Amino acid sequence: MIRIPKGCKDMLPSEAYLWHTVEDTARETAELYGFKEMRTPTFEHTELFARGVGDTSDIVTKEMYTFLDKGERSVTLRPEGTAGVARAFIEDGLQGGPMPFKAYYLISAFRYERPQAGRLREFHQFGAELYGSPEPSADAEVIAMADRFLKALGLSRIVLRLNSIGCKACRARYAEALRNFFRPHVDEMCEDCKVRFQKNPMRMLDCKEQSCKKFTAAAPVMLDYLCDDCRAHFEEVKHLLDGAGISYTVDPHIVRGLDYYSRTVFEFTSDALGAQSTVLGGGRYDTLLEQLGAKPSPAVGFAAGLERLIMVMNAEDVAVSERVADCYIAGMDEASRKKAFLLAEELRSAGLIVETDLVGRSLKAQLKYADKLNTRRVIIIGEDELASGEAEVKDMFLSKSERVKFDALAQYCKGGKF
Ligand code: HAM
Repeated sequence: MIRIPKGCKDMLPSEAYLWHTVEDTARETAELYGFKEMRTPTFEHTELFARGVGDTSDIVTKEMYTFLDKGERSVTLRPEGTAGVARAFIEDGLQGGPMPFKAYYLISAFRYERPQAGRLREFHQFGAELYGSPEPSADAEVIAMADRFLKALGLSRIVLRLNSIGCKACRARYAEALRNFFRPHVDEMCEDCKVRFQKNPMRMLDCKEQSCKKFTAAAPVMLDYLCDDCRAHFEEVKHLLDGAGISYTVDPHIVRGLDYYSRTVFEFTSDALGAQSTVLGGGRYDTLLEQLGAKPSPAVGFAAGLERLIMVMNAEDVAVSERVADCYIAGMDEASRKKAFLLAEELRSAGLIVETDLVGRSLKAQLKYADKLNTRRVIIIGEDELASGEAEVKDMFLSKSERVKFDALAQYCKGGKF
């Protein structure tokens, strides 16, 4: 048997209502804040991610699905959505339009990671990006939107962790402090960290190796190295969140796994997820556009992993109700089945979810199937009903029935009788 590739997951029809709940909530929340949907290609030129996501990130160095197409061009399945949105923002002339520019997306993304619970090779993201504002209010609006989205899903055990990683100037001073701190230990650290020590020592704080973790706990923290402007920016973001009643924890260990961030970074984490505890992450990235060769433009955004959100919803026992069929129409013989088919079409035109027999089952088997569908109302048609033009409508929960004229069935079912 041909099996699904490692690290991928099928979404089965029985789970669709959960996915739809998450996607509908994402769309509704984004639109409350004036974000409009944007779609970009599933693959891009490899260089976009190398330059955008950053060549010291694990994503670019280890995890990209990169291949040569038939024209010998190196292309990559997107590992995230931000770089593609940035490319489109520049290429489609959106940079010249009214600011701030706000876009959201629901995408699949691909990372060649070691699969485990909550970590897949193909996964899905809801993301949002805001361009054109350097103000702390833009950071706060994006964080408030993420918070509202998670609360609208009914999640209550999620913690917002907030940090500032400063600007280029303060990060240079911090990198020096980190090098001084790690220098006596670097020989005992993993091979990746030896490279990170030279290229981007902040990445060392994110290392998952036990041999490195024991050193990182006591490392200097970025917040002590912020310049006055970055400090004032961070204070204002916190002040706005306090005012909006959004609680958070300042966590100096949040550095994020992508290279494009500056100033505010944040993650929403859940204790229900085990090792992969981050359900949503984001931050400010004021230098990405410049890195891609465009006119500079400040930006801030986030992305949430849909599979992780669904895992947390299940763990927190969030009640999501699935819409079941409004009625099942059972036909007792050939002629009644034909009538059932036509009535089903009529009731669907009235907006009802209707099921009817398609496999030639006996009445008893049809009732059993209707029960499996969890349908409360069954409409039964036989010879007598065809002759009288009235169906028997049965309430399966109360074991009661009533006779209703064929042309009154839609009204009857919509009226919510039973
Ligand atoms: P990220 O932290 O790499 O950020 O990913 C965002 C979310 O995607 C994570 O919090 C997690 O829920 C989910 N995720 C990431 N990798 C996997 C995986 N292998 N399996 C399942 N879920 C995963 C970004 O992608 C940035 N582009 C976010 C952003 C937007 N920053 C600014 N704008």
